[in-house]
Amino acid sequence: MVALARKAPRIPAPAAAPAKFSDDAVAGLTAMPKRVPAKYFYDAAGSTLFERITELPEYYPTRCEMRILRDNEDAIVKLVPAGSALVEFGSGSSKKVRILLHAAPNLACYVPVDICAEMLEQEAAELRRDFQRLSLLPVVADFCKPFDLPPAARLARVRVGLFPGSTIGNFEPYEAATFLRHAARILGDGAILIVGVDLIKPPEILHAAYNDAEGVTAAFNLNLLARINRELGGNFNLATFEHHAFFNRERNRIEMHLASLKRQQVRVAGETIEFRAGETIHTENSYKYSIGSFTALARASGWSPLAAWTDPQNYFSIQAFTFANEKPATPPD
Ligand code: SAH
Ligand code: AVI
Repeated sequence: MVALARKAPRIPAPAAAPAKFSDDAVAGLTAMPKRVPAKYFYDAAGSTLFERITELPEYYPTRCEMRILRDNEDAIVKLVPAGSALVEFGSGSSKKVRILLHAAPNLACYVPVDICAEMLEQEAAELRRDFQRLSLLPVVADFCKPFDLPPAARLARVRVGLFPGSTIGNFEPYEAATFLRHAARILGDGAILIVGVDLIKPPEILHAAYNDAEGVTAAFNLNLLARINRELGGNFNLATFEHHAFFNRERNRIEMHLASLKRQQVRVAGETIEFRAGETIHTENSYKYSIGSFTALARASGWSPLAAWTDPQNYFSIQAFTFANEKPATPPD
């Protein structure tokens, strides 16, 4: 974990990161079936490609979540009391939090947490310019691992977690439960968690969202191989791999893969990786929930539901929870 200093926003990547990427990539590429954790999509190029995805006509989640935030701004902002620390997990472009920052009075601080230092640095500069009185305390960290909040956030009256974008859907459900317990530990007693959760919907809509006509999602997926080439001395020929994304109905998830178009060998971090023709690297899952199934997951992780909002088409949801260590809060009728 690296806290970004206010006056010196240019920060080094955590020292352990390259070795970890190398270990995870080699372990995943020599496993059966092959896989690479989705968090490695987000280098500077991957974060920029993700931002382009959010503007695609087929990619409904960002538009739906922004609409829910705008339509329910007053009710959502009521969950963020004066003097609280707002902690955003996977803040990316911090586009959504701006709606809350405009409306929420007197925050103790805003703590965007992201694995992509470049994106965090760039957005922090823009937020500092646009919200000059806000105490902005960015943290570069893998939010799945223990990390320390800045002291101002630890000392605040209450901590409110924001986890938008349905990034929680990129975890296996058991990992989502682990994350929710971990978030409760980080945010502490009396915490609130506001989480964006993508909903189950007709497969054609899901398929289109992950197979856009312009090919931006394919470029986002293939950038993982380009990143391995750049950072791990890989020699993937990107022209010999193809983006595959489909809805797995049994598991309510979009799966993204990169399929090798031929039998081939690739070198990564000094290792030789063998591919059969058609063999895939599983690069991402994007789970879709019902309000009920996500509420059950959160409850099992110690969070009590407070409210849930959806867009008019019921494509996406924002769900709010509270955490009390001793006595669980009673949900409103
Ligand atoms: N919150 C934004 C961005 C979503 S994209 C939105 O709703 O549009 C997912 C974001 O989570 C990216 O910014 C990525 O860098 C970050 N991320 C993914 N895995 C992460 C991890 N393990 N730890 C910290 N950040 C992570
Ligand atoms: C960040 N995450 C929720 C996105 C999703 O929809 O699962 C990442 C993404 N993958 C392909 N398109 C967008």
